[in-house]
Amino acid sequence: MSPDIWRLVAWLLAGGLLGAFAGQTQAGLLCAALGLLFWHYRHLRRLLRWLQVRMDEAAPDSPGIFEEICREIDYLHARHRRRKRKLSRVLKQFQDATTALPDATVILNEDGSIQWANTAAAEFLGIHWPEDAKQRLTHLVRHPAVVELLNNPAPQDQSVEIPSPSKAGVHLSLRVVPYTGHQRLFVARDVTRLHRLNEIRRDFVANVSHELRTPLTVVRGYIETLRADDKNCPAVWRPLLAQVEHHTERMAHVIRDLLLLSRLEQNEQSAGREEIAVPDMLGRILAEARALSGERRHLFSLEADTGLHLVGAESELYSAFSNLIVNAVQYTPARGVIRVRWYGDEHGGHFSVEDNGIGIPEHHLPRITERFYRVDQGRSRETGGTGLGLAIVKHVLQRHEARLHIESTPGKGSLFRCDFPADRLVSVPADREQKQSA
Ligand SMILES: Nc1ncnc2c1ncn2[C@@H]1O[C@H](COP(=O)(O)OP(=O)(O)O)[C@@H](O)[C@H]1O
Ligand SMILES: [Mg+2]
Repeated sequence: MSPDIWRLVAWLLAGGLLGAFAGQTQAGLLCAALGLLFWHYRHLRRLLRWLQVRMDEAAPDSPGIFEEICREIDYLHARHRRRKRKLSRVLKQFQDATTALPDATVILNEDGSIQWANTAAAEFLGIHWPEDAKQRLTHLVRHPAVVELLNNPAPQDQSVEIPSPSKAGVHLSLRVVPYTGHQRLFVARDVTRLHRLNEIRRDFVANVSHELRTPLTVVRGYIETLRADDKNCPAVWRPLLAQVEHHTERMAHVIRDLLLLSRLEQNEQSAGREEIAVPDMLGRILAEARALSGERRHLFSLEADTGLHLVGAESELYSAFSNLIVNAVQYTPARGVIRVRWYGDEHGGHFSVEDNGIGIPEHHLPRITERFYRVDQGRSRETGGTGLGLAIVKHVLQRHEARLHIESTPGKGSLFRCDFPADRLVSVPADREQKQSA
């Protein structure tokens, strides 16, 4: 038995004996019990006071079971303190690491207000922590791309580029990553070097294309003169000249497409806002496509909603639509079917070209819009392709906030669809529509 029980029994026994001497055993026992109760109550109070206010001091000097309780509490308290210290150390290390990150990192609340930001955020985004706590990110970084990114988070592997709002000459790549609960992590990375390299590449291609254009025009001029002077041209030269002409034409096409791509890339703003009667435009493109099809006599069909116009840059869209239709002609065998459509639905406006041609194996699709990417080099050259058509389509669509959707089955055919946002569409009233088609 524990000493506490012995002490209790001894105390009650002593009370009972003293009471018995006085002839009042019960009263003696009652007094002893009351004394015991009071003693316990006093020690409990001291313990409570110690727990409430003086936890940092040594435990009260209490005998018996109270001493044990104090020892246990002391032990638990010390363990808790050690854990807390360890946790603060880990937290500090984590905060130091995130603070020292070269990428600007901002934790955003659900409503887009700032919860925390590291030091790089001050340098690249002009967001100072803790001064800017609870401010909306879009109030401090005023760029349409940021509003768009926060409202419609792109898939995680996609990012948008903007110039730094606080550091001149710096370009940032922005990403939003879901964080715990409803919070989001806004990360801005300095991509100035990459941006600069890209600019150098772009300028280089544009300059080389410009430089090549003039001598090529001269060469084409000479070839034309030589071929026109049929009488004085020796017969052996004729096929050679035809070859030279064919290759210079090809080169001229590549240069024309490279210059167009450079122009599209240099102009990063959203495309112009001319109102385009798409059905008329498609009629003109199809006339050219029929001429290109020639002897191969493809079967063309055009279904276009004449009451639906598109707002954008006419020459760019002409190029994009024409590239897709020309591809259908080039990669569909003779007498193949080519179906061109322009229509609107609840998702926006859609231009599509469907063919029953050679199709594209699936593993090529992710890279098909890269410059000079071809499924079959030989065939593309044979058909007179430059390998730049789909890259042009992609850039034109980007400038119109549109997307390219491709479905294809080798041997069965392909569908290329351009999806335009609803705010680029104009519904044309019937009388205006008639005037236009008249
Ligand atoms: N309608 C289509 N059917 C089959 N393959 C196609 C079609 N359109 C494009 N392609 C493939 O995609 C490649 C890239 O197209 P594009 O950029 O227009 O270059 P190209 O100048 O070679 O036509 C082509 O070389 C071809 O292999
Ligand atoms: Mg092409």
